Amino acid sequence: MEEFHDIALTVNGVHRTARVPARRLLSDLLRHDLGLTGTHVGCEHGVCGCCTVLMDGDPVRSCLTFAVTAAGHDVTTVEGLAAPDGTPSPVQRAFRECHGLQCGFCTPGFLCTVTALLRETPRPTEDEVLEGISGNLCRCTGYQNIVKSVHRAAELLAEAGVDADAGAGPEGEA
Ligand code: FES
Ligand code: FES
Repeated sequence: MEEFHDIALTVNGVHRTARVPARRLLSDLLRHDLGLTGTHVGCEHGVCGCCTVLMDGDPVRSCLTFAVTAAGHDVTTVEGLAAPDGTPSPVQRAFRECHGLQCGFCTPGFLCTVTALLRETPRPTEDEVLEGISGNLCRCTGYQNIVKSVHRAAELLAEAGVDADAGAGPEGEA
């Protein structure tokens, strides 16, 4: 018989609880149990980066992470990147401004990855940008504009004088 675990974690600033099987993936917890479908699942094998979310500020592939390992941690999904009033974060604004997306399937993963990247490296070089996003695949191959978006996001963050995740707040749904 399958064993279930009661877990509690913070998702986008909101305390959440769930009862999950030991092998429940974090991506499934977010999408199916918590209804946060902004996190996309592409390969389910840790290759594409579409499922990237932030755990305690660090990017993780939610398709490779068991939900139970997120217990007690602070998870931020794409739904939590904007300010509480819905104002897009500087990274989100930059992607919109520079057309850093086409179909948008990979975008939530890129936004989370880039948010963490710019917190660690606020003014990345071209090589650092390429290296930083190398774990995220865009099947539309819109990389040029994605790279532009990362540089623009760095500018916007510098102008605002804030950290990349400063807009993180409650997701707006309880
Ligand atoms: S869905 Fe997780 S890395 Fe592709
Ligand atoms: S914008 Fe389509 S997969 Fe990246």
